[in-house]
Amino acid sequence: MTVGVVEHLEVVEVSVRKVRTGLLLAEVMHSVFEAAARRGESERGSSSTARVTEPVEQRPPGIVAPATLAASAHQAPSPVRQGGRGTRETAYHTCRSTLRPKRSASGNLRAALRPIRGKLRLMNGDDDSDLVFAGSIPEMYDRYLVPLIFQTYASDLAACVESLGSGSLLEVAAGTGAVTREMAARLPGTVRITATDLNQPMLDYAAALGTTRPVAWQQADVMDLPFDDDSFDAAVCQFGVMFFPDRPRAFAEICRVLRPGGVFVFNVWDRLDENEFIQTVSDALGTVFPDDPPLFAARVAHGYYDAEIIQADLAAGGFVSRARFEALEARSRAETCHVPAIGFCQGTPLRNAIEARDPARLEEATSAAAAAIAQRFGPTDIDGKMRAYVITVNKP
Ligand SMILES: C[S@@+](CC[C@H](N)C(=O)[O-])C[C@H]1O[C@@H](n2cnc3c(N)ncnc32)[C@H](O)[C@@H]1O
Repeated sequence: MTVGVVEHLEVVEVSVRKVRTGLLLAEVMHSVFEAAARRGESERGSSSTARVTEPVEQRPPGIVAPATLAASAHQAPSPVRQGGRGTRETAYHTCRSTLRPKRSASGNLRAALRPIRGKLRLMNGDDDSDLVFAGSIPEMYDRYLVPLIFQTYASDLAACVESLGSGSLLEVAAGTGAVTREMAARLPGTVRITATDLNQPMLDYAAALGTTRPVAWQQADVMDLPFDDDSFDAAVCQFGVMFFPDRPRAFAEICRVLRPGGVFVFNVWDRLDENEFIQTVSDALGTVFPDDPPLFAARVAHGYYDAEIIQADLAAGGFVSRARFEALEARSRAETCHVPAIGFCQGTPLRNAIEARDPARLEEATSAAAAAIAQRFGPTDIDGKMRAYVITVNKP
């Protein structure tokens, strides 16, 4: 996409004017973001809508719980397979409406933690701010990151369970509902969908966006699920398990609420250097805070990809049969370098990490991330690699 000359001039002109009047860099960046957002708005509906083309592989539809789902190749978990399986086009994202990043609107982290703190079971070394998706985060997450990195994988997970013809399905860590919306559209109305998440603000955002048919939204910590034993035919979780402080316990809860033979399908990001945008943003934040670099990306979001560890955690939770691992590589595309910068710095718990170091430096940090993205991928029409594992296992 070509950014119009007028729009370029508008950005420069606004920036120069603000610098002249002695305003802070942060305000200049606001103007740049706003101009970028206006560009996105003006282009919406042309080449800017999310699109998914050309599947990586011809995956047989539906994964399988014997007796509930149609037979498919997924029924027999294969040995761990790692390595690229081709590419899948991912969302091409523009800012969807005029945006002015809210100033530290996630604001008081302590306040955000209050509703969930009693529900958390943290293990040594966990930082509970990594688990807070509140304040401005749900909006920024859904607006910037869902089209950028989550939508492709959401379509894939929904396809994994779409042959479920009836019964009930549980989604944990549903966030703003990327997978939920896909499943609601693809699965027949005879499948009851219950979508849960630890953070009520994420579910509120998801519910406000809505689904094509009714979904039960319910706040729940995956490590203490408020459901009876053997009550779901399938369970789904997209990019949530890395956040669970005690994964064997979380898997045990999911296993408990699944009926025997029920299927659990989830995905995790591969290591940081296989996911180029977040790696670049994370490195840039290391230069902004050299004495105390935020390690959220490496430690949490991209810190749980080892097949042997995941298999062992699943077994400790009661999923004793061998899990199937599939690597799924895709491209992440955005119109400008600001999209991944804002998305990761302001739409994930990285925002909490930045604000914990210095609340006044959020925009400087976002700006540094955008500059690093621009340096590596160019300022506009950017394209980076991302890679994840899709894991399928059945309750015995
Ligand atoms: C990266 S987001 C993924 C959201 C969504 N599945 C998606 O694909 O967009 C991770 C989600 O995990 C949720 N989460 C973190 N810890 C959790 C827990 N203990 N129980 C349930 N959800 C949790 C967060 O609130 C957040 O919505």
